[in-house]
Amino acid sequence: MTLFKALLAQLLGLLIAIGLNPFLPPHYSSWITLLILQSSGAMLGSKLLRQPSWWLVIHLLFLPSAAALLSLQLAAYWYLLILIVLILVFWGTVKGDVPLFLSSTAVVEAISKLITQESAQYFAELGAGIGTVTVPLAKQHPQLIINAWERAPIPWAINVWRSRHYANSHCYRSNLWNCDFSQYDVIFAFLSPTIMPELGAKLQTAMRPGSLLISSSFAIPDWKPESIKQVNDLAKTQLYCYRIADAYE
Ligand SMILES: C[S@@+](CC[C@H](N)C(=O)[O-])C[C@H]1O[C@@H](n2cnc3c(N)ncnc32)[C@H](O)[C@@H]1O
Repeated sequence: MTLFKALLAQLLGLLIAIGLNPFLPPHYSSWITLLILQSSGAMLGSKLLRQPSWWLVIHLLFLPSAAALLSLQLAAYWYLLILIVLILVFWGTVKGDVPLFLSSTAVVEAISKLITQESAQYFAELGAGIGTVTVPLAKQHPQLIINAWERAPIPWAINVWRSRHYANSHCYRSNLWNCDFSQYDVIFAFLSPTIMPELGAKLQTAMRPGSLLISSSFAIPDWKPESIKQVNDLAKTQLYCYRIADAYE
């Protein structure tokens, strides 16, 4: 559905650009004007189809980037190579899964403090990316057992490579929805607002009562956080901390 909506928005942009072209004064009718019209039309289509806001940026840049790449006259295999790398990094994103974007150092420091406060022995990360969180934590807390799950092949491989010196940290190439959450004192997730209701429903019963769930940036609807940590990073990230026993009392 996501891909279908994206294609529809692009098509609408194309129709708007082609439709308006004959009405443009001759000195305005150029490839650049057509690209601007197509991108704006695609953004409008995206808005009408109620795609999440990040799609606006994708629609704005899609055709102009394609035109810029074409002008470089690269050999055809480069496109295939770039496509394969993108698929292996953003695995499943096209179906609406959570894309890769990384937590800041300040977020990792805040999680590290929470782990110390909790005297945690077992820590898990859902959707661990390239190990931005788990690698520094494994170094700072050598006694902490860290398990991380990541589905996308390239981030997972980078994570495993970066964790190779830390016996206390393991990253598994698994779907987080199939994992066992019951043994952890602290679980960290930085995912997407669209899956928070489903994640909350799953973790409510799957996490150990008394354990702590830290969700970066996205709250779980209808759950009452024990605290919200304001992180001093560029994104002004908020960490929603939920005590599991409290969450469904
Ligand atoms: C927003 S990134 C966060 C990366 C990392 N946790 C960080 O904070 O820097 C979300 C990650 O979750 C992964 N992911 C999304 N859905 C997943 C699933 N069902 N199972 C495992 N990993 C998933 C994505 O591939 C992506 O790497």
